[in-house]
Order: sequence, then structure tokens, then C-alpha cells
Amino acid sequence: MRWDKKRILEIDRRHIWHPYTQMKDYEGRDPVVITGARGLKLFTADGRELYDTISSWWANIHGHLHPALNRALAEQLEHLEHVNFSGFTHPWAAEVVERLRAFLPAALSRYFFSDNGSTAVEVALKMAFQYWQNRGETRRTRFLALREAYHGDTLGAVSVGGVDLFFRLYRPLTFEALRAPAPYCYRCPENPSPDFTRDAEDIDCNFHCVAVLESIVKEHCDEICAVIVEPRLLAAGGMIVYPAEYLRRLREITRRYGILLIFDEVATGFGRTGTMFAMESAGVVPDIVCLSKGLTAGYLPLALTVTTEEIYRAFYADYLEGKTFYHGHTFTANPLACAVAAANLRLFQEERPLERGRRVREFFHRRLLELFSGRPYVGDIRYLGYVGAVELVRDRTGREPFPPEKRVGFRIYMASLEEGLVLRPLGDVIYWFLPLCVTEGDLDEILTRSLRVMDRVIGEIS
Ligand SMILES: Cc1ncc(COP(=O)(O)O)c(C=O)c1O
Repeated sequence: MRWDKKRILEIDRRHIWHPYTQMKDYEGRDPVVITGARGLKLFTADGRELYDTISSWWANIHGHLHPALNRALAEQLEHLEHVNFSGFTHPWAAEVVERLRAFLPAALSRYFFSDNGSTAVEVALKMAFQYWQNRGETRRTRFLALREAYHGDTLGAVSVGGVDLFFRLYRPLTFEALRAPAPYCYRCPENPSPDFTRDAEDIDCNFHCVAVLESIVKEHCDEICAVIVEPRLLAAGGMIVYPAEYLRRLREITRRYGILLIFDEVATGFGRTGTMFAMESAGVVPDIVCLSKGLTAGYLPLALTVTTEEIYRAFYADYLEGKTFYHGHTFTANPLACAVAAANLRLFQEERPLERGRRVREFFHRRLLELFSGRPYVGDIRYLGYVGAVELVRDRTGREPFPPEKRVGFRIYMASLEEGLVLRPLGDVIYWFLPLCVTEGDLDEILTRSLRVMDRVIGEIS
């Protein structure tokens, strides 16, 4: 069978249902057929190149087809492609854990493998819940999560998710989480950031949102088992960057009330925010952390839920005590994925991309401000490490959003593909979620093209 573009599109149109896509939007247009990639670029079936400005759904870390990662995967095929992980173990899982231990706080010492970000979160929720059950504190059954949070699309993750557009319909299928306001500085009802949010560190703030969270914790302290947050960056909620101090206060509150703290680092992990893990920027250690996406540098599905000895010990008992953690997936700790994850961690240890990328990150942030701050349709500019975002508004003074029917973000996305970029929006937030191999030259090209696209689309709709 020859896979020419026409044939691929025929099959796609007739049989394939794509994720997070209103398929009717594609009635008169084709999805982009990608036939290869290298570094920061995706190659299309009609010979064009696109900057992969969203790191293939926030997963790619060192660019596409990195030679060391390719080699690790090819070599692994000489040994073992898959084996069950219950009662069995293998060297590649051990290497991942041993290398990760060099990056994670020592208090996080027990590693539970699974196979994607949502499962890492499901594991964390069930683990936190059962921790209290196993200890006999059976009233602790509730989770506290943030509005605008996103933790995945399986039903436990949806229960703690707060992006209404995605989750509203499924509420009858989920459990009810307690919800605290998101630290969304640009749209803070108490103390809106006077200027652009940037990295949220210079904001003069009384942390009203933390006070609200604390009042919820206080009211429900003996029924809550854990608080779950995405540290420093509410990603799918609109690339909302918030201050490290928020996390320090949150840790203090959860300690004071004896509640577990879960960090979902599925999107923020592996250098994306400029430190290996976002929690490092706050110097805060949670009780459970969820990892995926960048764990294999974006090559293969793999996830980890990492926790403390204390939580692990609450499950460790004679079989008949019924404290076993009944959770597992077919592809838990898949050896191919583990081999690539180990090679990814070796790259971090040997090539030190985060130290070497300091100037590039500074350039990125400076250029974002230089290019976008003068545009009347740019309400907010925020950034953290290799993530940058602009929130587009109809009226900058009143921070008034564009009417949803204008579909500004979607139009920009479509126009960006013509400019050789992938500006996949979150509503009217346009963002860049770049791999660590990005250069100043790439950034300049990407941001200049992005600005051209936005000027054009906003010009057409105004
Ligand atoms: C913070 C966060 N948690 C969990 C997930 C879910 O990961 P997955 O799509 O691999 O299930 C995502 C995905 O975008 C995420 O951003």
C-alpha cells in the first residue's frame, strides 16, 4: 500500500476521530499530514516545514529524533519489548528510578510506574485516598483542587479538573471536589496584576486566593485527604503562571492541617519551566508528585507517581489486612519507554541543557515583551522557562475578552500553519511550549512569525 497524502486523508476523513477536535471544523479543510520530524521541525506530506512550537503536546524535550534517544530505543529492541511488572522487574525501570533519584528530593523515595499523565494522576488520587483509609481515617475522602486546573481526561482526573469547557458535561459521572480559586493574577478579583504577569514573581500581592483556600481547608479539614495542584503553571487552564510563594504557603497550610499535597508535574516536569521540576523554584516538596510527558522526552508513553516512605508504609502489611494498592496498567513500566526515559535522564546529567539554556530563556522572555507588549490586543504576557503565553483581549484597559463566536484563537491557529508554526490556542491564549534545544535564532523566527500571524488575524476580525 502506498501512503500518499490523498490516501491517508481519505482514510482519515472516513474513519478517524481526532482528540480535542470538533470534526465538523474539518469539513472544508484537511488535517496536516506529518511524515517526519527533526529537531524543532515537523515535516509535512507536501514538503513544508513547521516549527513544533508546542513540543508535540508538551512532551518533546530535546527535539525530535535525538540521536542518543534513537540509539537507546534501537538498542532496547535487542533485549526486551515488554513484560508485566507485577512480580517482575527489569534493569531499565531500575535505571530510570536510580537516575531520577538524583533530581527529585530524597523524601520522595517510592516510585509507582504507569503509562500516561492521566493515569499518574489517577494513581495519586487513589493512593492519597487509600493512605487515609489504611490508617483508619475513613472520613477523609475529599480532594481540594483549583478552578482552571487540568489533570487529565480520565474520570478521577476530570473530577479534580476545573476547566469548565472540557469538564462541565461529565460532572454527573465524577466525584465532587472542593474548589479553590486559581492564582490567576491577570484576572484576580482582589488585586489584578497592574502590568503583565511575566513570571509572576514581582507581583505585589496579599495572596487573597491562598486565604480563600485556607478557609476551605479549615472548614473541611477532617474530610480532605489531599490538595492537588499544578505547580507554578496552570497549563491547560490558559498557561497561567503564578508565584512560587503560593506553593510555599500551600505547603505550610497542608502541613498545619495534616493534609497531603499532590503536585501534578506532568506538564511542568523535565526542565520545561527552567528548573528540572517546577517545585524547585519554590523549594517545596509535596507528598506525591505525578510525572509523564517529558519523562521519555516525548518519545513513548510512560508515567510515574512518586511518593514518600510514610505513604508507602501505610500500604505495607500482611496480605489479609487488605491494604494492597490494587492499581496497574498493561504497559506499566514498559521497557522500551523506560530505556528512552533512562537515556533522557542521562542527557540531563551529561549535557546539562538547563544550565546551558539560561541565556536562551532570558532572550525568549525579553523578546516576548519587546514584540508583544505594544499591541493593543495583548492583555497579558506571561512566561516561565521555555513556556510563554499572551492572552488576547478585545479591550486592554477593561481586560475584556473577545466574543467567543469570533474564535480568535482558532483562527490564529489555522493562520499559523500557513506561516510554518503550530500556535495551538487555549481559548484566546496563544502560547509557546518549547523544547530545551531551542536557539535564539529559532526563537526570533518563531516569535516574529507569530506576531505577523496575530496582527493579520486581529486585523481581519476588527
Ligand atoms: C498537568 C497535566 N496533568 C495531566 C495531564 C494528562 O496527561 P495525558 O494527556 O498524558 O493523559 C496533562 C496533559 O496535558 C497535564 O497538562
